Amino acid sequence: MKILSIETSCDETAVSLVEATGDFPNAKYQILGNALFSQIDIHREYGGVFPSVAKREHAKTLVPMLKKSQNANLKSQNYSEEVKNDVRVLLEREVGMYEELIEYVENYEKPAIDLIAVTAGPGLEPTLWVGINFAKALALLWNVPVVPVNHMEGHILASIFKTNDDKSGNTLHSNGGLADLQFPSLALLISGGHTELIKMNDWPLDVARSKQHYEKIGQTRDDAVGEAFDKVARLLGLPYPGGPEISRAAGEARSANLPEFHKLPRPMLDSDDLDFSFSGLKTAVRYAIEGKELSEEDKQAVARDFEDAVVEVLLKKAERAVNKYDIRSLILGGGVSANRQIRDTFASFFASEHPELNLYLPDLKLSTDNSIMIALAGHARSSKALAPTIEALSPLVASGNRSLSEE
Ligand code: KG4
Ligand code: ZN
Repeated sequence: MKILSIETSCDETAVSLVEATGDFPNAKYQILGNALFSQIDIHREYGGVFPSVAKREHAKTLVPMLKKSQNANLKSQNYSEEVKNDVRVLLEREVGMYEELIEYVENYEKPAIDLIAVTAGPGLEPTLWVGINFAKALALLWNVPVVPVNHMEGHILASIFKTNDDKSGNTLHSNGGLADLQFPSLALLISGGHTELIKMNDWPLDVARSKQHYEKIGQTRDDAVGEAFDKVARLLGLPYPGGPEISRAAGEARSANLPEFHKLPRPMLDSDDLDFSFSGLKTAVRYAIEGKELSEEDKQAVARDFEDAVVEVLLKKAERAVNKYDIRSLILGGGVSANRQIRDTFASFFASEHPELNLYLPDLKLSTDNSIMIALAGHARSSKALAPTIEALSPLVASGNRSLSEE
């Protein structure tokens, strides 16, 4: 099955073409095309993601990303006025997108795809809508069904997925390794919008639901961990997105063995639950530096102190959940799982304290938002695809707060 996947939940515009041979989770996957445009440079000016700007950029970039992911031959194609009119109505609010899309589909060979997978949530509603309407338009034009995908399920699958880069930079693999996952699993999802612990009891296959596949057993009560990284970076005058900047600065502090700048709190470390809180930690950083003239080294030390506090809390809560639920596989997913210190600390801790546990860390290229993860989740959910008619597709809507435990 060939899957065209689309991701626009935040500030990455991504389109991929993935071939799955076999049924989920036993399939072999081959990535035939992968195009991603990051809007980071555009948002950096504002110090964060501006939904209306992000929406406009997605609308401008989706057709070029589609074209790049397909590598299709030139061949003129005809579409009925009726279908074109439906597509025009669908794309009414995305300036210029209708014309650009029609020009593309009329001049390039229609791809042999079986399914379109698109992120329906969670994410920013205005940006989700652009991807969803684009997916619906392609479905109508090419007569291909569409499956809505949960972004967080995508992060989980991308973390489990084993990649194997060939020399051309395409990821090929004999087996995505998904079928090897041992349950119960625990996913610690850490991104710009989420911090949650999800217990996975089984794959979300379309069998009669005897038990809940995903259970949310812990979550942040305020800021997401990625948000805390971004806000602390801002306090230190580092550019957006702050995660990689903090990580780099903290690395410098560790190599230089800089002394502690300020003892930061470990919020909710010993609370009797699996919840998190990061807004107090951010405030503690603010108080620690307020009114001070910080040298480069001071900033590096603060970044390291902050990172140490985050890592300690994440690790302790993950360990508590692993023990409580007899977890067999621990999955780190979401953009913050690209963090070196988090990866190294989890790897060494669980290797020594829980050698029986399988730890899954995403390939760095798949840890932040991408569309390969959406193709994997689309494959897992392919039986839920909606037929390519306006009526059948109408339930597919953007849902900013779509929770994984309700899937
Ligand atoms: O999953 P993602 O790409 O988008 C969301 O779904 O939110 O995550 C983005 C978040 C941002 O907050 C970014 O600062 C953070 O991931 N991030 C990192 C690192 N790379 C990205 N945080 C810490 N260390 C990193 N190396
Ligand atoms: Zn994400």
